[in-house]
Amino acid sequence: MTETTPMQSTTSISKMIKWQQDMKASRRKIGFVPTMGFLHEGHVALIKEAKKNNDCVAVSIFVNPTQFGPGEDYQAYPRDLDADVLLASQAGADIVFCPEVEEMYPTDGGIRIVPGPLAEQLCGASRPGHFDGVLKVVLKLVNIVQPDTVFFGMKDAQQLAIIETFFRDFNCPVTVVRVPTVRELDGLAKSSRNVNLSVQERNEAPAIYNAIQQAVVLVREGVTMEVVKQFVADALMEKTSGAVDYISILTYPQLEEPTDVSKDLIIACAIQFSKARLIDNIIFKREG
Ligand code: PAF
Repeated sequence: MTETTPMQSTTSISKMIKWQQDMKASRRKIGFVPTMGFLHEGHVALIKEAKKNNDCVAVSIFVNPTQFGPGEDYQAYPRDLDADVLLASQAGADIVFCPEVEEMYPTDGGIRIVPGPLAEQLCGASRPGHFDGVLKVVLKLVNIVQPDTVFFGMKDAQQLAIIETFFRDFNCPVTVVRVPTVRELDGLAKSSRNVNLSVQERNEAPAIYNAIQQAVVLVREGVTMEVVKQFVADALMEKTSGAVDYISILTYPQLEEPTDVSKDLIIACAIQFSKARLIDNIIFKREG
């Protein structure tokens, strides 16, 4: 009979550090899944992927205030710690780290991490300072958990590109694994924020993935980027009540204008609904 240890949960940085030190002392490889909680199948896929390739898995659940700007949905961000702990445990996590804000940010010496040009496009352009906050918390979490491998979802493709570049440029000894976006049956990308859509908005939201899928076909047919972006904008305006924040086609992961035909492309968009801002993307090769 295999013996299974019940999942642990802690709000304490020192207990989290003790756990990872114990794991390292017994030469166990640590997989890490950082999250802001309200876990869904997308997070479950990350935890399962982490479990496949590591001896133990840590999941953090922390709604990080430093990555929300004034007027954004920090307060309204959905939270359900009990359900999260259960789901993380069922998915195979060995420990959940769920610190309070005071535990993570007891002091603020004002030091900032400036993500640079990669953060000037897409969400970074509409959410100034967002990626400074993401990098700050990711660095803190990685320093606390000291994982061998960290897992991120492709829905947040810009976040992933910035974190990969940050780890590479600053020699952080951690491997990043990209995990594909998990979608509802109608194509809507799973997101904790989907719960803040009205019934009508939820019915409209699959139009986002439909439009960017069609856009990929048009790019491959040689239609110009400007015309493709306008096509997506028109489709979203016609089929949803949300306000289009941006629709961009760039190279990935460089996030540059797509002049180099050999590079992978990303079509990415963000739409603001009444209480939820949704993002989605497809990364693809120009030749289908
Ligand atoms: O992708 C997220 O949920 C967050 O941005 C992250 C990486 C957990 C940092 O707070």
